[in-house]
Amino acid sequence: MNEIIKAEHLEKVFGDQKAVDNLSFTVHRGETLGLLGPNGAGKTTTIKMLIGLIKPTRGGAIIGGYDVQENPIEVKELFGISPQELSFDHHLSLIEDLYFYVRLYGLSRKEAKERVKETLKWARLENHAEKIGYQLSGGMQRRLLMARAMVTDPPILFLDEPTTGLDPQARHALWDYILDLKERGKTIILTTHYLEEAEMLCDRVIIIDYGKKIAEGTPDELKHILKVENIVTIKPRNSISQRVIEEIKEFTGVEDAIWHDSSLKIYLKDEYVLELIISLILTDAGILEMDIKRASLEDVFLHLTGKELRE
Ligand SMILES: Nc1ncnc2c1ncn2[C@@H]1O[C@H](COP(=O)(O)OP(=O)(O)OP(=O)(O)O)[C@@H](O)[C@H]1O
Ligand SMILES: [Mg+2]
Repeated sequence: MNEIIKAEHLEKVFGDQKAVDNLSFTVHRGETLGLLGPNGAGKTTTIKMLIGLIKPTRGGAIIGGYDVQENPIEVKELFGISPQELSFDHHLSLIEDLYFYVRLYGLSRKEAKERVKETLKWARLENHAEKIGYQLSGGMQRRLLMARAMVTDPPILFLDEPTTGLDPQARHALWDYILDLKERGKTIILTTHYLEEAEMLCDRVIIIDYGKKIAEGTPDELKHILKVENIVTIKPRNSISQRVIEEIKEFTGVEDAIWHDSSLKIYLKDEYVLELIISLILTDAGILEMDIKRASLEDVFLHLTGKELRE
């Protein structure tokens, strides 16, 4: 069985609000699926339904062949979770905290101790083992949550915004841990607000807005939705005549050209027209600055939802 997670028409209604709306998807063994969406899109609610923490209003989920509602105990053994909210015990040291988690899974004392030691080492927290969670730095706290998720060595990991609140350096450091988990063949569902994180880590991405799936595909496939390969921004020396802008828009290799912030933004479907565009603008207005970037998931997200992902 290659499909390890199957969400079927998941729906969650809170009062008069549909937090998750008829959401279906599958995740294959060893795959990393990203759930991407703005605040309140329904990502955490989806994860909570998948792990059996809250009951769906409609629909359901199968994990490792087990129905989440009917076989919660079997399902529990298959996953680890790094939750969005930080919460630590005020009295337990890291060692005790992790030991407590593993013992819940019924490992012997000896095995549990071994697992805790290995996991602390993996998370590079062995030198902080006697501290409590609240005494750690932000990056270390996130690593502790990853360690908790990992300590029973489950095949599936739910990582709910594993890097939220971290500075870029700590975020990039955490990516290495997630890449290591991927290499170990774990199946991962990851939620994030950071598009570069989704591009970097996810094999497939589902974009959610108002609880609904609005797009699904590999990061590259999603970029093709936009039909744009590159976005060229040209800042002219003098103003570009409207006639030239209209002419550029008519090229077959151009999806659109927009005058924005004293620059012309050209959405290119094909690069072959670029030389022609440059020579046209050089003759008409001269060029002060030029920048070419590949269309990113950010551009796709803007195109699909009309809004930027907030952090
Ligand atoms: N227990 C609850 N009671 C009432 N409403 C809830 C509850 N949990 C979530 N909601 C609402 O459901 C919607 C989806 O919330 P959810 O936490 O799933 O979003 P999210 O995509 O994880 O957002 P964020 O990116 O901010 O974490 C929100 O409008 C939220 O207010
Ligand atoms: Mg959330």
